Amino acid sequence: MRNIVILISGSGSNMAAIVRAAEQGRWGQGLNARVAAVLSNRADAQGLDLARDLGIATQVLDHKTFASREAFDAALMAEIDRYAPALVVLAGFVRILTPGFVARYAGRLLNIHPSLLPAFPGLNTHQRAIDAGCRFAGATVHQVTAELDHGAILAQAVVPVLLNDTAESLAARVLTQEHWIYPQAVAEFLAQSPMRSNRG
Ligand code: GAR
Repeated sequence: MRNIVILISGSGSNMAAIVRAAEQGRWGQGLNARVAAVLSNRADAQGLDLARDLGIATQVLDHKTFASREAFDAALMAEIDRYAPALVVLAGFVRILTPGFVARYAGRLLNIHPSLLPAFPGLNTHQRAIDAGCRFAGATVHQVTAELDHGAILAQAVVPVLLNDTAESLAARVLTQEHWIYPQAVAEFLAQSPMRSNRG
């Protein structure tokens, strides 16, 4: 069985969508993959309760208790590597990762970003899309590379920007689509790497 480790910082709705897709057999038997653990840098992340309710192992590593970004990432890598994951999935994980972390999981590290990349990398994507007068917004699943929000694009979803949209209303519309494309992109990624076994 191939392990997936998911990193979260917040509500964990994308994590739950991926867990449910895996459990409901929507991925088919051939993928031979399961979500083995959910890790968070915040003890108060709502997604931790969601993960526990879904029967997934959870672990908190509070980044504020580490002296440096490198020290936090080293501890995070040690925790992730306990599961020897075939795939590491960032799902609303709001820490910037060190080059060493990105290199360690190169080719098996995915992220979802709430904009139509390459437009609006970084923060406040929905307000920036509204301010720019965009008629469409969306989300992007991409591979993670050393440059923030710039890895190869695996999937995108597009939604309209409506006349009276706020950042919140647009974010909610985009998030609904994220829950469709992220589990699908994870499944397609695993299907394209059938020989990829768990890694140490
Ligand atoms: C999602 O909208 C995701 O695209 C975004 O955080 C939200 C997490 O929601 N990610 C980023 O902004 C990463 N730069 P969730 O915790 O309910 O999945």
